[in-house]
Amino acid sequence: MSVRPTMPEELLAAKRLLAVSDLSDSDIHYILDLAEHYAGFVQRSAPAPKRLAGKTQINLFFEDSTRTNLSFELAGVKLGADIINVPVSASSIHKGESLVDTAQTMAAMGADVMVVRAREEALHSTLDKVLNCAVVNGGAGAKEHPTQALLDAATIRAEFGDIEGRVIAVCGDVKHSRVAGSNAHLLSRLGAEVRFVGPAHLMPADDQFTNIPRIDNLKDGLDGADIAMALRMQFERMGDDAGTAARGYYEEFGLTHDTIKLAKPHARVMHPGPMNRGVEIDGALADDKELSLILRQVFYGVPTRMACLDALLTRGE
Ligand code: NCD
Repeated sequence: MSVRPTMPEELLAAKRLLAVSDLSDSDIHYILDLAEHYAGFVQRSAPAPKRLAGKTQINLFFEDSTRTNLSFELAGVKLGADIINVPVSASSIHKGESLVDTAQTMAAMGADVMVVRAREEALHSTLDKVLNCAVVNGGAGAKEHPTQALLDAATIRAEFGDIEGRVIAVCGDVKHSRVAGSNAHLLSRLGAEVRFVGPAHLMPADDQFTNIPRIDNLKDGLDGADIAMALRMQFERMGDDAGTAARGYYEEFGLTHDTIKLAKPHARVMHPGPMNRGVEIDGALADDKELSLILRQVFYGVPTRMACLDALLTRGE
């Protein structure tokens, strides 16, 4: 069994996890080490220390989620927290209550941490200001999804042993993807060479991510890549462009057993899920047990979120 990593002297000074920028370098390394430590418990079906016993975790997801919501729930359960999932479909927002009022009401019931997913990108920082509990971003509009980036980093580290110097091609609908944004920030900070690959209309605005190269063809985009990370076409965020955004995409940029050969021989594919088979990735490649890390990413969701909750709620203990 791995040894529990030593907590850095200062841990999560921001007291929240809304964006990758809330994490110091030592926070990132500690969370990744702790995630690996907890991965051992999950793998062996061994009980983890109940470090969150007595703490209350509320999961407030205003947008659809399978992986993120469930893995936050499992993470909290394994650490012994009391957990409430708020089914937003049954909450009072349908009676006209604002999202902030809904969250404040939940927090007043004694929450220690609230995990929030919402389309509104500013909501998380508003909640961080008005609530007395820690706020964790479980997905904010097209902007940030820091725990997804952390679990992706944990997956890459587990597969390759390191992240520094790895070439990571983030492919597809970068423009509407909070996963792409958080991964670009986190993986670059960990020394990876991140690049965005896709047609111009799916790239972010020119003044964003100016340090990340953009490549508009798969041949150059995958050249020398260790990882091809596919993104879901986020049709629900495209407005009027949704009908045409994916036209011709699969033929030119789709990840398949053929196109992955453009990358390094040992290259692996990733996808945060949910995936659209035949839209951004071929189902046979996604299911390839050797080349695809997709289910490994799902696995790492639980220990990584255990590490995040533990780090946030037991700072200084
Ligand atoms: C992503 C999300 O919701 O941000 N999925 C996830 O959390 N695993 C990506 C997506 O919706 O495409």
